[in-house]
Amino acid sequence: MIKLPGLIDVHVHLRDPGQTEKEDFFTGTSAAIAGGFTTVLDMPNNKIPITSIKSLKEKQKIAREKTVCDIGFYAGSLGISLEELMKMEPYVFGLKLYLNKTTGNFIIDEKKLIKIFVAWKGKKPILVHAESDMIENVIKLAKKMNKKIHICHVSTKFELKTVIKAKRHGLVVTCGVTPHHLFLSWNDTNKLGPFGMMKPKIEKGYKEFLWENLNWIDVIESDHAPHTIEEKNHPPAGGNPPFGVPGLETTLPLLLTAVSENKLSINRLIELCFENPKRIFNIKTNNNTWVEVDEKKEYIIDNKKLLTKCGWSPFNGWKVKGRVKRVFIRGIKVFEDGKLLVKSGFGEVIKPIW
Ligand code: DOR
Ligand code: ZN
Repeated sequence: MIKLPGLIDVHVHLRDPGQTEKEDFFTGTSAAIAGGFTTVLDMPNNKIPITSIKSLKEKQKIAREKTVCDIGFYAGSLGISLEELMKMEPYVFGLKLYLNKTTGNFIIDEKKLIKIFVAWKGKKPILVHAESDMIENVIKLAKKMNKKIHICHVSTKFELKTVIKAKRHGLVVTCGVTPHHLFLSWNDTNKLGPFGMMKPKIEKGYKEFLWENLNWIDVIESDHAPHTIEEKNHPPAGGNPPFGVPGLETTLPLLLTAVSENKLSINRLIELCFENPKRIFNIKTNNNTWVEVDEKKEYIIDNKKLLTKCGWSPFNGWKVKGRVKRVFIRGIKVFEDGKLLVKSGFGEVIKPIW
């Protein structure tokens, strides 16, 4: 048995409020615990995006009643009502901006980006969904305006090379990579059809490059993005199914499998899923919060056994080695052998410590 600190996932979409047919704070945080994560940071692209203090406070109130693990939030912005940004700032772990099209139509153009950078004062990171050339643009702007940025889900050789170049020049930029970009191949996504469609999409041959350069990656972030089986199977006429795949319950077993194959060390796993997230986003942790895993236990990932409301995983049927056995939060046993032992509201809505 290995004892790990309660892991932190800095990138989840729990869909509450607004799209609770896909997931809600209770099912999403139950999935987190089942996957060894005791703290999650939730993204602002809700049906009604979280771009005001009012919507943020409402979201936190709902979360307080339903969450079973600890949960924190990010602010969002569409480039309007910029005075809201610093009202939200004390209660969030950063600001998330979408520079490319994805779920929720949240995209902002470059002119608005400058105004938002000016309005986001203080030291908390700006997280960006930026793909290909946009990464270079946003890094340049962050340098010019002296902002701390985190590049979400780096997925291609070009993107990671851009980040490495910036890091070599000493810029304050961090980046995350998702488990689906590390483990799914282009062939897998073809077989998965709509269930392998996410943003950024998986390109041929890049997961090898990500593994070879894992040293440059700061965090592993699931980008847990649940959508119902129904809407994945029945996209609107002429349109795409919604982009995104769930990941909270499969990230750790996949990483433990990589550890068993000597592709990753357990210390590096802890760095990527606990120490770096804690440091970059200033998250308070508790010594009595931990996860026990049976590192020798092999099992098959099974859609039917997942706690996420969406009820599917792109890794369904995969054999993994390493299973979450027990989870403790602040000294209380919250999960054992597949069963959640606490009720809605056990978890806390957390505030940043800066
Ligand atoms: O695939 C994705 N799904 N990528 C994103 O950036 C957003 C996410 C979602 O919200 O469904
Ligand atoms: Zn995301």
